[in-house]
Amino acid sequence: MKAVILVGGEGTRLRPLTYDLPKPMVPICGKPFMEYQLHLMKEHGINEVIFSLGYKWKVFEDHFADGADIGMKLHYVVEDSPLGTAGAIKNVEDYLDEDTFCVFNGDILSDFNLQEIFKIHARMNAKCTIALTPVEDPTLYGLVELDGQGKILRFTEKPKREDVRSNLINAGFYVLDRSILNKMIRGKNYSIEREIFPEALKRGEMLVGYSHSGYWLDIGSPLKYITANYDVLQSRLKSPASPTAQRHVAPDAIIGENVSITEPVWIGNGVKIEDGSRIIGPTVIGDYCTVGESSLIERSVLWPGSSIGNNCSLEEVIVGRYCSIGDKTALGGLSVIGSYNVIVSTKSPEE
Ligand code: GTP
Repeated sequence: MKAVILVGGEGTRLRPLTYDLPKPMVPICGKPFMEYQLHLMKEHGINEVIFSLGYKWKVFEDHFADGADIGMKLHYVVEDSPLGTAGAIKNVEDYLDEDTFCVFNGDILSDFNLQEIFKIHARMNAKCTIALTPVEDPTLYGLVELDGQGKILRFTEKPKREDVRSNLINAGFYVLDRSILNKMIRGKNYSIEREIFPEALKRGEMLVGYSHSGYWLDIGSPLKYITANYDVLQSRLKSPASPTAQRHVAPDAIIGENVSITEPVWIGNGVKIEDGSRIIGPTVIGDYCTVGESSLIERSVLWPGSSIGNNCSLEEVIVGRYCSIGDKTALGGLSVIGSYNVIVSTKSPEE
């Protein structure tokens, strides 16, 4: 089975981080998010993947090249302008030469049982099988209603509380019969979830929902992104890409005197933490970051190459690459510092 990964979006909800890296390439515990998805595919026997690209497409190709390093065959197809999730699939049609293929949104961290979904798709003789995940407040989402066998009966958009008949939403993974491509228009910008699926249902085609009960997270907002790091650190998601221990301190990291480190933490290569600082997990400190004296880093994610001054306090903060945070700076409340920024504290030295 070949897989298409949709990775052409601009990741607007994750700005300013996505001004630097496209959303599927943001680091989770030191590895690009996309590695977690590729490992999941490999575990389930997918060896050939077509990246459907647009925004910052070169970052993917520069990192993964032809895929030999991870034992996969990778193709890159770049759109001239965004085609939406349906147009983006149609755009890679030339690579899809089998009867069935699958599609991933490029921002879902999950442990989908792909083999089981493939089997259900075949057994139900489905045109499309959509992975679904439960939500707590169904009134906020587009919902998918199933019959007892898993056949999709209806799509409903943000229903009123009294009309709620399902708590399942589209989880961003599909198995598709190749014939669905015949219904798509090349070069048109439109959505598979809002247009292609409802139209197929109207035509009476067999659409099946697979209710996923395992781990699932859309990493597309700062809160979700930091949560993804916490969850991977705490082994809530089992992945070959995850750290193997809750305390990872690279062998060449330099840790000063009286530094306290509370797990779970991931501390990368060449990191330097100076005397008297406290690192409280879940926290990720990317390669070659420096933390000055007597600073606190708690529940935070630092991308590689950033420097944090002396007597700083960072609690629940995301810091992009190559930032410089001056002495005595206090940040919190899920602050997000875009890559290459310089932050200078306005506190006087006496404070
Ligand atoms: P936001 O701007 O924050 O909504 O993020 P996004 O547009 O990057 O992601 P969204 O959740 O809306 O889309 C789901 C997946 O489809 C993501 O992995 C996107 O990269 C991808 N995607 C969205 N639009 C396009 C597109 O026009 N072309 C391609 N190739 N992929 C797309």
